[in-house]
Amino acid sequence: MIEIEARLAELGALGLGRRTRLVSGPQGPHVLLDGKPVLLLCSNNYLGLADHPRVREAAADAAMRWGVGAGASRLVSGTMTIHRRLEERLAAFKGRETALLFGSGYLANAGVIAALARPGDVVFSDQLNHASIIDGCRLSRAEVFVYSHLDVEHLAWGIEQARGRAALIVTDGVFSMDGDVAPLPELVELARRHNLRLIVDEAHGTGALGPGGRGAAAAAGVEEEVDVIVGTLGKALGSYGAFAACDRQMARYLVNAARTFIFSTALPPPAAAGAMAALDLLEERPHRVDRLASNAAAMRAELEHEGFDLRGARTQIVPLVVGDAQLAMRICEAALAQGVFAQAIRPPTVPPMTSRLRLAVMASHREEELRSAARTIAQAARAAGFEPRTRLDPGAEESAWQLQPAQTGPAAGEPPPPRGAPRPFDHEAPAPIARAA
Ligand SMILES: Cc1ncc(COP(=O)(O)O)c(C=O)c1O
Repeated sequence: MIEIEARLAELGALGLGRRTRLVSGPQGPHVLLDGKPVLLLCSNNYLGLADHPRVREAAADAAMRWGVGAGASRLVSGTMTIHRRLEERLAAFKGRETALLFGSGYLANAGVIAALARPGDVVFSDQLNHASIIDGCRLSRAEVFVYSHLDVEHLAWGIEQARGRAALIVTDGVFSMDGDVAPLPELVELARRHNLRLIVDEAHGTGALGPGGRGAAAAAGVEEEVDVIVGTLGKALGSYGAFAACDRQMARYLVNAARTFIFSTALPPPAAAGAMAALDLLEERPHRVDRLASNAAAMRAELEHEGFDLRGARTQIVPLVVGDAQLAMRICEAALAQGVFAQAIRPPTVPPMTSRLRLAVMASHREEELRSAARTIAQAARAAGFEPRTRLDPGAEESAWQLQPAQTGPAAGEPPPPRGAPRPFDHEAPAPIARAA
């Protein structure tokens, strides 16, 4: 039996204990957090649409018209008209034949990957992909080759090793904790050359990148080359739920094979209607996307001026990597005391020794308050004992990686990791296979 108390104590000792904080009111640029007003710098409500009056009204009207719940899986009690309309809108937005709604981004990734890869296949997954992708890979029971972050050469080498067993490549479009962007044209090229499917998770690209906020694939001009684009409704589109944009044959297959679609209640009508109103707003006023980009640029510039190394982040997600988990928590608390809420992110959300503050800029922030927050965070970092100009020793991260089991779990017969090693914290290490010379 699992010793719950011992596990909690172990997490606490590693500086990895978690609790949720109480927010009063909607997820705007400012919130009351545990009763105190703060600037919110960690919400994925990037375009400020979650509490937009038109989005609220659309959700409220939908509740009156169609009710609050969808009642059952769509394969059981049917597709509601609001689902069909939203799917048509999302397909047009993403420039694809069709789209299929899922209950959340987590469910979409888990369902799509497990439907497209089978035992005996090989899935190629970026080292820093989101947990829902990792879990989709696990669910598929395929073999998983974790390639080094953004490393197309490592991926190409892995594909060669798979010798025809390869099934698909899967990547975040914009990486959720790092704010960098996948090399999509190169991934498309590899996928075509080796006859692999490519799945791109646009959770953080939708509404933020590309023309009209159509995403990282659109920004790279490869939207139509990607087999399945997964997008969420719960981030820039201010609602809840997700979708897979693809061709009709793929959608028909997913309806038959994606277990998270088949065995889960359909999206609630108010969530669908809220997302549709957000899409309307995005299409009517695409300048929100430009505002998000200019706010993010201002934030990054001020943080760089303070000396932070932003590690190639070039989107609205800005990581301030400090290494140690407890240090990240101390900085978070010190900034919070000054009215700035930037959540500390620790393993297993990020690899060991790369704990960080993950800042998320919104279009509804004012540029000046972002600049001022950057200065506050730098002061908080110094007060907590971290000089922003510090460059972390990459060797420390490398050795931390060696502690991690491979994505498919420890090999049979391998002894369990030593007590106190960073577990059950199952972030994934790159494939433990040497590179080609
Ligand atoms: C890259 C990525 N994909 C998928 C998800 C899951 O989306 P959802 O929150 O809709 O379940 C997230 C959530 O943070 C994410 O960052």
